[in-house]
Amino acid sequence: MPYTLLFVCLGNICRSPAAENIMNHLIEQAGLSGQITCDSAGTSSYHIGSPPDRRMTSAASQRKIALRGSARQFTKADFERFDLILAMDRDNYAEICALDPSGRFRNKVRLMCEFCTQHMLREVPDPYYGGTEGFNQVIDLLLDACQGLLDDVVKQIPVKP
Ligand code: 4NP
Repeated sequence: MPYTLLFVCLGNICRSPAAENIMNHLIEQAGLSGQITCDSAGTSSYHIGSPPDRRMTSAASQRKIALRGSARQFTKADFERFDLILAMDRDNYAEICALDPSGRFRNKVRLMCEFCTQHMLREVPDPYYGGTEGFNQVIDLLLDACQGLLDDVVKQIPVKP
């Protein structure tokens, strides 16, 4: 059984698809394809079915990372389906936790920036209403956080013979 990761932001067109595809890139580079799987979702219904935002796609392509996928909304069923749920900011974290009032899945939900080792920011800023620099910053932050996350997850998956 693969270890399953879900990245969550507001719209599922900027930050979380970038996180999902960056993580897949690092997983492939590490030769761990099939052992860790990634998906992403948004807390809102605003962009259901939409591809990643072209500004995010452009920033990612400069790092040779293609963004694939289409937006979907986070649902309660995701608590069961995923081993770890990574919120991009505190609003996303609160929205996710609001769907789990008993707190049963609270230890599965983490802030993405907890896994940064190079950056001091504690949240991945929402780039949607800003300029190009914001999208580049998201990529930089996510490259750092995804590497930290991969190092952490690798400790938890069984070693293949
Ligand atoms: P994301 O960015 O949460 O990183 O996908 C946003 C996308 C859409 C909106 C806000 C943030 N919006 O307000 O439509």
